[in-house]
Amino acid sequence: MRSFADFNGDGVGDLPGLIGKLDYFEWLGVDALWLSPINPSPNKDYGYDVSDYLDVDPALGTMADLDRLIEDAGRRGIRVLLDIVPNHTSDQHPWFSDPEKRDWYVWADRPNNWVSAFGGPAWTQKDGRWYLHNFAPGQPDLNWWNDEVRAEFERILRFWFDRGVAGFRIDVAHGLVKDELLRDNPPATRDDPPPIRRFGQRQVYNSRRPEVHDVFRRWRSIAEEYDPPRVLLGETWVLELADWAAFYGADDELQLAFNFLMATATLDATELRTVVETSLAALPAGAKPVWHGSNHDVSRMATRWCKGDEGKVRLALTMLLTLPGATVLYQGDEIGQEDGVVPPERVLDISGRDPERTPMPWNGEPKGGFTSGESWLPMGEHRRRNVAAQREDPGSVLNLTRELIALKKRLRGPYEPLPASKGGWRYRRDGVVVDLDFNGPRARIEEA
Ligand code: GLC
Repeated sequence: MRSFADFNGDGVGDLPGLIGKLDYFEWLGVDALWLSPINPSPNKDYGYDVSDYLDVDPALGTMADLDRLIEDAGRRGIRVLLDIVPNHTSDQHPWFSDPEKRDWYVWADRPNNWVSAFGGPAWTQKDGRWYLHNFAPGQPDLNWWNDEVRAEFERILRFWFDRGVAGFRIDVAHGLVKDELLRDNPPATRDDPPPIRRFGQRQVYNSRRPEVHDVFRRWRSIAEEYDPPRVLLGETWVLELADWAAFYGADDELQLAFNFLMATATLDATELRTVVETSLAALPAGAKPVWHGSNHDVSRMATRWCKGDEGKVRLALTMLLTLPGATVLYQGDEIGQEDGVVPPERVLDISGRDPERTPMPWNGEPKGGFTSGESWLPMGEHRRRNVAAQREDPGSVLNLTRELIALKKRLRGPYEPLPASKGGWRYRRDGVVVDLDFNGPRARIEEA
């Protein structure tokens, strides 16, 4: 959101800027937008520390702007999803200093061994006790064992659904409920994958509790009260396929759940094919997988997977957009945007994720068409790669993405694997054969 398009010249992307780009999305053919959090926030974690769930951050626009966005997008057949952050609030949220809402947060007399996703202990002392923060100290975790917290979030969902918001991406969906006894996490073992080993422990008690499914069953029933039903898309950061598939429930929890096995895989034919085939096999019948290669938390796929190699970018986009299910592209993926270079003195994020968050390169002018002011993060390589130049070039990555989106809308059939040579991966969907050659690298689509 902050890096998409700045209308008022303060260097930060905003809702009016986004509204001004709806023609672009219509041309590209996307059918929904997910906006990173737009609620008021002290920005210790750029919007993911919310201080008011029922308003729009003035730096990003107004409630009237949001209404206009929903309406203008709706006219073009584009739905607007917001980001909801139910795992924690900002420490500046009035709830956190309200003595009557003490039990809305997770407190302990003594810290256990849980560690924060940003490093260091997950506990900070306040007024003689310790509060839990699975992320920064300015992001105290809510206590999802408290029924008032559950009721409050149901009210928040309805508030936005009533305004026409098509659904939510649910931040830290796997983590809302903590172990009621606050037991220590067990140590990680050498067999655990690197994202788990990095914490030194298996995060089985400070997140990933089975009770979270009760919350999502309630949320789904609320989403179904609306016409059309509202969409729940979880940030389900789990690496066990059975745990991931469980978020779909019996078609009574989330309709969509991000698959982090793909986002943490390397660009390798066998590895990706295995992720896709085992994921499809793990899903309950009728459930839709969600594929993504980039987001605001990890190095962009054009960098991480492709090291800037355009052939690989084309291959990655072809794969993401021809698999069955939903595809979520991160802004800039459609032109093969790479991570930006952010010098140490301009680093803002608590966890150093600035390179994947540099502004959208709209054109090759000095400020990239992103802002008329000073952009909050430096521009990336906007002279080399930008929307305006690629839009004019029929053979560009952007035009490929547009063609793939159009193709995606036609493909309805199941995934059928076909024989392939080493370093290759071929599959059929309906009458279309997708031929991915990771050695080339080259992606071909043959219409039978
Ligand atoms: C999610 C967000 C990330 C944020 C964290 C804490 O992982 O994607 O950006 O820092 O939650 O809210």
